[in-house]
Amino acid sequence: IHADADAACAVVAGELAALIRERQAAGRTVVLGLATGSTPVRLYRELIRLHREEKLSFRHVVTFNLDEYHGLPRTHPESYWRFMHEQLFDHLDIPPENIHLPDGTVPRAEVFGACRAYEEKFRAAGGIDVQILGIGRTGHIGFNEPGSGRDSRTRLVTLDALTRRDAARDFLGETNVPRHAITMGVGTILEARRILLLAWGEGKARVLADAVEKTPTDALPASFLQGHPGAAFHVDPAAASALT
Ligand code: F6R
Repeated sequence: IHADADAACAVVAGELAALIRERQAAGRTVVLGLATGSTPVRLYRELIRLHREEKLSFRHVVTFNLDEYHGLPRTHPESYWRFMHEQLFDHLDIPPENIHLPDGTVPRAEVFGACRAYEEKFRAAGGIDVQILGIGRTGHIGFNEPGSGRDSRTRLVTLDALTRRDAARDFLGETNVPRHAITMGVGTILEARRILLLAWGEGKARVLADAVEKTPTDALPASFLQGHPGAAFHVDPAAASALT
C-alpha cells in the first residue's frame, strides 16, 4: 500500500527499469505483458519520463498486450492498439516489430488459430518476464470475466454487462461498446514470472479485498493470483480501504 498512485508507479517503474537495464547489460531482451485502461496510465507516464530524463532505453524490450476489443480496427479511437501507441509506445525508442497486441479484426472463424499463434509468439520470445495488470470491478484480469477458469488460455470472450457499462463513457454510449474481446487467459497470465497488479481509488476497494482475501474462485478471476509466488499488488490507500 503506497501513499498514492504516483508513489506506487515510481516503485513499479523502478522495478521494470532495473530489469530492463540488467538485461540490456547482458545483451538480452525483456518481455513485458502490458495492460490498458485508466490504471496503468501513470505508470506509462513514469516510464516515458525515465526514457526521456534518465536514458532508459526500450530497444531491447518486447511487449505483448493482454487484450483487444473484437471487431475494432487499429485505427478506431478506442482500440487498445491506438491507446498503447498514444499512451506509451509513440514516446519510447521501442522498435515497432517488438510490439504485439491481439488482432481485433481477425474473423471469428480464425480467432482460435490467431490466439494460439499469439501464445506461441511470447513463448518463443522466452515467456513473459513481468505482467502488468489492472483489475475490473467484476474481478476480471485482462478480460477474464467471472466464470473464466484458472487454466483458461488466450481466446474470444463475451464482456460482462458491468464491464461494458464501465466502458460506456469512452465509447460515447453503452451500445457502442463491443460485446466481445480477445484476451490472454488466466492460465496464460499465471505463466508470467512476475505479476504486478495496480489498483487506485475507492471504486476498486471491494473487489480488491475479495481478490486478496477470499478463497480463489472462478467467480473472481483475480483471486487466482493468490497462488502465484511472484505476484504483488501495488495499491493506493483508497483501493486498500476494504482490506481487513
Ligand atoms: C485492460 C484490462 C482490464 C483493465 C480493467 C481495469 O487491458 O485488461 O482488465 O485492467 O478493466 O480498467 P481500468 O484501469 O480502466 O479501471
